[in-house]
This record gives sequence, C-alpha cells and structure tokens, in this order.
Amino acid sequence: MKKTKEKTVYVCQDCGTGHIKWQGQCSGCGAWNTLVEEISANTKKSIRNIRNSDMQPLLALPIQEILTGDEMRIPLPDAELQRVLSGGLVPGSLILLAGEPGIGKSTLLLQLALRLSPRTVLYASGEESARQVRMRADRLPYTNTQLYILAESELEPILEVADQLSPVLVIIDSIQTMFLDALDSAPGSVAQVRECATRLQRFAKSRATAVLLVGHVNKEGMIAGPKVLEHTVDTVLEFEGDRQYNYRILRSIKNRFGSTPELGIYEMQSSGLREVANASELFLSANTAPLSGVAIGAILQGMRPLLLETQALVSESVYGTAQRSATGFDNRRLNMLLAVLEKKCGLKMGNKDVFVNLAGGLKVEDPSLDLALVAALVSSFLDIPISSRTAFCAEVGLTGEVRAVSRIEPRITEAEKLGFNQIFIALPGGKVIENEVQMQTNIRVHCVSRLPEVFELLFEN
Ligand code: TYD
Ligand code: MG
Repeated sequence: MKKTKEKTVYVCQDCGTGHIKWQGQCSGCGAWNTLVEEISANTKKSIRNIRNSDMQPLLALPIQEILTGDEMRIPLPDAELQRVLSGGLVPGSLILLAGEPGIGKSTLLLQLALRLSPRTVLYASGEESARQVRMRADRLPYTNTQLYILAESELEPILEVADQLSPVLVIIDSIQTMFLDALDSAPGSVAQVRECATRLQRFAKSRATAVLLVGHVNKEGMIAGPKVLEHTVDTVLEFEGDRQYNYRILRSIKNRFGSTPELGIYEMQSSGLREVANASELFLSANTAPLSGVAIGAILQGMRPLLLETQALVSESVYGTAQRSATGFDNRRLNMLLAVLEKKCGLKMGNKDVFVNLAGGLKVEDPSLDLALVAALVSSFLDIPISSRTAFCAEVGLTGEVRAVSRIEPRITEAEKLGFNQIFIALPGGKVIENEVQMQTNIRVHCVSRLPEVFELLFEN
C-alpha cells in the first residue's frame, strides 16, 4: 500500500524563504545553492497530531518526580565504551558514532549489540544484507539470541519494527543510507539526514530507547551531512585510527550526559575489536636502549593518563629553506617551540630541517606534551640520548618558562607504575619546592621552572 506523499517545501537555509520547487537561486535573498528540502510545517503539524493522539496526554511533572536517566543507565559490557559514554547508555539518548569508512564502526556496534546479551537490540543496516551482518557476527566471539537484524533503509518501517520489539538499543547503520519516504531528496542529502535524525530523536525520547547512529566522515574530516546532525544528537563519538596501525581510538567530542571528553582504545584483530586497558603499551616503543631524539610525555586524554613517545629529527637543511613537519602535533605549536629554543636557549634551529612524530599516529592537543617535545628536539640537536626511564609533563611558554599543567598526580602515578624513574614537571605559579620533590616513592620528581634547568639536568653530566 502506497502512502500519500507528505508535502515538502524547499527552504533557503540563509533567509528561510520557502519555495514549492527546487531552484538554484533563492528568490528571497538571491543566495545560490541554499535551498534544502524540508517537510512542510503543515504536514509536520498533522504528523504531530496523529502521534499525540496515541500517546499520553500532555502533562507537566513536578521536577522531583522526573527521572534523570542516571538511575536507569544501562551498564555496558565494553569498558572502553562505558568510559567514553561517562558511565553507560542513557535510555532515550541519541548517539552519533562518526568515523571514516572502513575504520570499524559497524564492527564496534555489532560487537556491542552481541555483548549486550540477553537484552534485546535491533540492528538496522542500510549498507549490508542480513547475511553479510550475520557473517561478520560469526567472526566475533559473542552471541546474543535477542539481537535482531533488519536490512532496510526506509526509516518509518524500521521504527515500526522497533516499536514491536521494544529493544534497549536501536542501531542505525548508517544515517547516510536512511530515508523518509515523505522527502524526494536522495538518501544522504542534507534534507534526508536532517529529517531522519530529527525523527530518530523524537523516537528515542518518546520510547526511552537509546539510538546509536553510524555517520560516515568524508575526506575533509567533516561528518558528511549537515552540521545540524551534531546539534540534534545528544552525544557525538568519533572513531579514528590510522589504517597502518591496528589500534582505534574512540572519543566523545560532545556529551550531554558527561562532563569530560573521554578516550577509549581498541585494537582491531581478526576476531573483532579488543579493548586496550593499558593504553601506554601501544604508545611506547619496545626498545629500551636510549636513542637521541626520543622523549616520553605523560599526557592526559580525558581522565586517562597516557605515556607517549615523541620523536624528533633535527638535521642540517639540504635545501635553501628549512622544512618543518609534524605528525600528530600542531605545526604552529612546533614552530613556536622552535622559536623559543632559538631565541631563549640560543639553539640555532633556523637552518635545520625539523621532523616530529608521535608514536602510533596519535593526535595530541594536550599542551603538557610541550616539554617532552622540546626535550626530544634538543636531544636530536645535540645528538645526546635521554634515558628511556625519563618522562616529561609540562607546558612551555613563550619566554621559555616551564608551566604547570592540570591533574599532575595521576600522570606521575602512571609513569611510576610503568617503571619510569624520573619525571620533569612544573608546579603552579612557578613554585619550586627545592629542586626535587619526592612526591612518590619510586620515582624522582624534578620540579623545574625554566628550560635551561631541564637541559642542564638532562645533558650536562
Ligand atoms: P567496518 O566495521 O566494516 O568499518 P566501517 O563500518 O567503519 O566502515 O570494518 C571494516 C574493517 O575491519 C575491514 O577492513 C575488516 C576489518 N575487520 C577485522 O579486522 N576484524 C574483524 O573481526 C572484523 C569484523 C572486521
Ligand atoms: Mg560499516
């Protein structure tokens, strides 16, 4: 039975003028290519009326009687995901999992669906047939007899099935393949992605069901589809990794139900994604013989301390202009640190090629990596290795001062746990409690306030 089409309009995203047909230029403001198909306000109203009639009457509740969702959070068997979602799945939440094609999004979610056994989960795939999903599931070491697979890309029938099954979680793989029949636009278009997400948000809230959306990220690193997708969902998770490496990083870049941006780490194996509990194992290279140009930083990703190897190569420039290239670290920040070394520490970096690389292809924005990077640069410049049992954790300022960073204790503890025997840090306000503070038993903590002090301790004996 074919449903009658709902009315749609083409609305200019700049000025809001509606048009009956698509056209290249908005007749309201004259802007080009700004018209996007939307379900017309009248149709929306009639859908709402139908929906309201089969739901409870409108009711305002005393604030104390409203459940916050925290007491109902569904604990996840996957410790990494549990951490990234700040303590479990909130019923009624809409979560976007974004990542490049092939990174492992479908694997991660299918694995989660299996591990949620014996809870009911609906996995709707617009990308793969039910058989393909089953074949993938057979590679994974989990089973869930209450996992239902639906190979479909029209959203309304999926939601009808979800209504019948009452699952705790609905997985939509992917939002770019889904469509609402009411819209003429193709799946993946701005209009479809936006209206589908809005429809799913309404479904999640009214049924108190968690909905997880897969969203592909295009080459420019943008979540393909409109920005509004990010605004519509409660949580945005990013799944990333380098294809040369097997590990994958999951981070929350927006979370209405959690306060800190958390990080989860997995390793892609032939039998699915393995949770990596001891993250530092991945980011420290196995060799223990000290090499020049290598220094280890104690950084924090979310609440999680991580020891990360930074590598620098400083060499005579063979071409006229010196090259500067950083992988995993901001290039401008690298240039700033090089200028500090040149001007404040008298190291002639101007005619050198400088290459910087973070182990494992990790991308880091935590400024506490500055000191490790500077140490690696100077170590390479002088060709003097730094002991592999030494860690660094401080920001470097424009005047060559070494600055304190937040939450220093867990980083020191992590370094100590991994067998480091000394760490360079700074105390707030440039305080120096002697030159060396014994905060822990098995690790020597050097409190420094200026770069030359660090170099003296590292390279002058
Ligand atoms: P996939 O989850 O399909 O990526 P996405 O949904 O983000 O596009 O993952 C694809 C890759 O993962 C593919 O190259 C095969 C690999 N893979 C494994 O290495 N081990 C496994 O157990 C599975 C299921 C996939
Ligand atoms: Mg996929």
